[in-house]
Amino acid sequence: MRMRAIKRIGILTGGGDCPGLNAVIRAAVRTATRDHDLEVLGIQLGFEGLLNKSCIPLTNELIRGILPKGGTLLRTTNRGNPFEFPVEAGKEDRSALLLRNIKELGLDGIIAIGGDGTLKIAQRLFEMGIPMIAVPKTIDNDLAATDFTFGFMTAVSVATDAVDRLHTTAESHDRVMILEVMGRHCGWIALHSGLAGGADIILIPEIPYTPEAIVESIRSRQKEGSPFDIIVVAEGAKRVGGAERYIDRRSKRLGGIAYQVADEIARAINLEIRVTVLGHIQRGGSPIPFDRVLATRFGKAAADLIAKGDFGKMVALRGEQIVAVPIRDAVSNPKYVDPDGELVATARSLGISFGDAL
Ligand code: F6P
Repeated sequence: MRMRAIKRIGILTGGGDCPGLNAVIRAAVRTATRDHDLEVLGIQLGFEGLLNKSCIPLTNELIRGILPKGGTLLRTTNRGNPFEFPVEAGKEDRSALLLRNIKELGLDGIIAIGGDGTLKIAQRLFEMGIPMIAVPKTIDNDLAATDFTFGFMTAVSVATDAVDRLHTTAESHDRVMILEVMGRHCGWIALHSGLAGGADIILIPEIPYTPEAIVESIRSRQKEGSPFDIIVVAEGAKRVGGAERYIDRRSKRLGGIAYQVADEIARAINLEIRVTVLGHIQRGGSPIPFDRVLATRFGKAAADLIAKGDFGKMVALRGEQIVAVPIRDAVSNPKYVDPDGELVATARSLGISFGDAL
C-alpha cells in the first residue's frame, strides 16, 4: 500500500497548561515548515477543537516571540475527551465526528502535546487509524518512558524558591512551615524541591507517613538546637492506612493535605505552625531554560517523526538523547518515585525525614 504524502498537519495542547507548551509549538512549526515544507494548523482547546473544527493556521509570523511565554497559544482544556464528551445528560462518545472532521480538515497527522489523559486519547485514536504523534507534558513528571517531561523543572524551581522564602521566616519565628506542592499521585515536585531547598521533612504519596514520626523528627531537631522546620508535602501524600485528600471528590481535585498534617501534629509540639498551599503558581509563567531547551528538542523531534510518517510514537528524553517510544509505553503506568531509590536514599542520608520512621 502506498503511503499518503504528508502535507498538512495539526497541533493541539490538551489537559492542564504547563510552562514550555509554546516552546514546543514554536519548534514544531519551524521544523515542519522549514525542513519538511508542511502546512501546520493549530487546533484550539485540545481535542474539542477537532469536534468543532476550531483551527488557526500556524505560520512563522504567528509563533514569533512565544518561546518564553507560559500557557499555550492554542488554549487547552481537561474536559474535551471525545470518547466521553460532557453533555447535559452525562457523557457522549463523539469520536466518529472527530474522525470525520480530521478527514474534512485534510490533516495527514496530528501532534498531541499533553499528559496522561491527552496521551491516552491519542493512543486510542492511533489504534482507530488516526496518524498521531505525542509530546510528553506535565509539571508532575509522572509519565513513564521519558526521564523528564517539560514543565517539571520550572515547577520545581518555583517550589524551591518558596521553600527558600519560608526558611527565612521559619527561622526568624521558630515556626513549622508546611508547604503543599502539586504533583497529583506522585511525589516528584515535593522530593526535588525539598532536596533543592533543604527541607527537613518531605511527605510524598509513595511513602505514607505517620504524625508520630513527623513529631519525632521535629522534636529531635529542637533538641539539636534547630527550633524550626520546613515540611514539603505533595498534594497526593497520605497517612499510613489513610487516603488522598480531595478539595472536590467528584472532579478528583487534590488538595488540603497540608492542613491535615498541621492538625495532626499541632497538639504534640510546642511550635507555631503555618501552612502555605502553592497551587497554580507552579504551573504559570515563563519556563526556565532547561524546559525551554527540552521543549524545543521535543517539538523538533515530533515534527521530524510526523514528516517521516512514524506514527503512534511519543518523543522522549532518555539520558542525553531524544528518542521515539510507543505512546502506549508512556501511558501504561504512572512513573512513581522509587521509595528505595537513590534520590530518597540521598535525602535520608542528609537527615531528611519522610515521616515514616518509628
Ligand atoms: O497535572 C498537573 C496539575 O497541576 C496537578 O499537579 C494538579 O493536581 C492538577 O493539575 C490541578 O488541576 P486543575 O488545574 O484542573 O486544578
